[in-house]
Amino acid sequence: MALNSPKELAFTALQVMQDAPVIPVIVLDDVAHAVPMARALLAGGIRMLEVTLRTPQALACMEAIAKQVPHAVVGAGTVRSAADVKAAASAGAKFAVSPGYTFSLGQACRDQGISLLPGVATGSEIMMAQEDGYTDLKFFPAIQAGGPAMLKAWGGPFFDVQFCPTGGVTPQNALEFLSLSNVACVGGSWLVPADALAQGDWERIEKLAREACQLKLR
Ligand code: 3PG
Repeated sequence: MALNSPKELAFTALQVMQDAPVIPVIVLDDVAHAVPMARALLAGGIRMLEVTLRTPQALACMEAIAKQVPHAVVGAGTVRSAADVKAAASAGAKFAVSPGYTFSLGQACRDQGISLLPGVATGSEIMMAQEDGYTDLKFFPAIQAGGPAMLKAWGGPFFDVQFCPTGGVTPQNALEFLSLSNVACVGGSWLVPADALAQGDWERIEKLAREACQLKLR
């Protein structure tokens, strides 16, 4: 159980993970790209969109998607502090994804009423997140920290945890992750390539999203 009663969540972290096989990790540096990109992902079947807080335009992009693409569910990625959580919630984010976990990050998400997919890479980090009520976790950086073999090993002691491996996941190795019983989905940046954004190639992004949805072979 979480340490205090969370506000009602629009989507739990597990719902965010189970919506599609892939959560796109998105880096946007032009607000004009946000809405057509979100519409393309939605048309391809992906509605949970992780917009990373890595550019000065990220919050404005989230806000534009939240306001103009109501069927998409915008989330914030690269969330590292309570201040990030507050800013993301104000911009309309319904979930947060973090590269690691701290108590204050969890508390800020509970206070703001947004779900959190916290990043972990070790057993101790899993146990700290579990102590605060988090059992749906991002495994980051997935390939560099041990890949599918690590998840198989964790399936023993952490039998009650579901993971979203992210970092180094590709269309080529995604199925190896998705076939594991403790993997609910994967995260990856390949759905929104920087050159497709620069060229306004929304059809390509839609196609990548459609192909990602077809990874559901479990
Ligand atoms: C990131 O940090 O950008 C995410 O983990 C995505 O990683 P990827 O580019 O390897 O998919």
